[in-house]
Amino acid sequence: MKSKTIIYFILTVAVIYLIGHTISSDRSEPNTEFIPEMVHSIAYDAFASNPNTIDGKTLQTPPTGTIPIGFMPEYPDGELTIENAGTVLKNPFKMDNADLARGAYVYATFCQTCHGLNGDGDGPVTKRGVPPPPSIKTDKVRKLKDGDIYYLISNGVGNMPPYKTQIKRNDRWLVTHFIKTLK
Ligand code: HEC
Repeated sequence: MKSKTIIYFILTVAVIYLIGHTISSDRSEPNTEFIPEMVHSIAYDAFASNPNTIDGKTLQTPPTGTIPIGFMPEYPDGELTIENAGTVLKNPFKMDNADLARGAYVYATFCQTCHGLNGDGDGPVTKRGVPPPPSIKTDKVRKLKDGDIYYLISNGVGNMPPYKTQIKRNDRWLVTHFIKTLK
């Protein structure tokens, strides 16, 4: 019992001592920092100059041909055009096992604002000054290959913006199937 009291006493004194010595009474001075390495990184900051690299910069351009994890290119750079997309690109989903509910969800999220819920080209933005797109329930669209539609969703066409950075690949393929079901 007694030794416990002594330990508590010593601890209390130690804490008071530490507080007294780390919190400076002079407000114009910064306080003492404990373990400053945990606050200030000793690594080079991304935009700091760096004596260890050839160009003196910390942030280095990745070597040509570098592929971010999970982003295997779908086709070699520059080899895909609007003319050959339909034959080069293949829909990984067969229509009979496609997740049409997911396609419908993607359509409702990204496309119906312009194309309208049923694809008639009467989406809400067309009531607010945006020129209406053509119907996508035409023979012209039905005859397009999946790769053609995928290409135009990815890269845009005319007044339609590209969606390759907003919509994931699988979702782009699924919405391709979905718009063909619009009657
Ligand atoms: C900002 C409005 C807008 C959005 C959003 C939009 N589109 Fe379009 N879309 C257009 C316009 C405008 C055209 C006509 C482009 C042209 O030919 O000048 C078009 C054309 C198309 C065509 C070709 C029609 C044809 O007859 O050639 C398809 C297919 C299509 N869009 C599908 C989609 C799909 C799928 C989405 C969602 C992923 C989508 N669009 C999102 C505006 C939009």
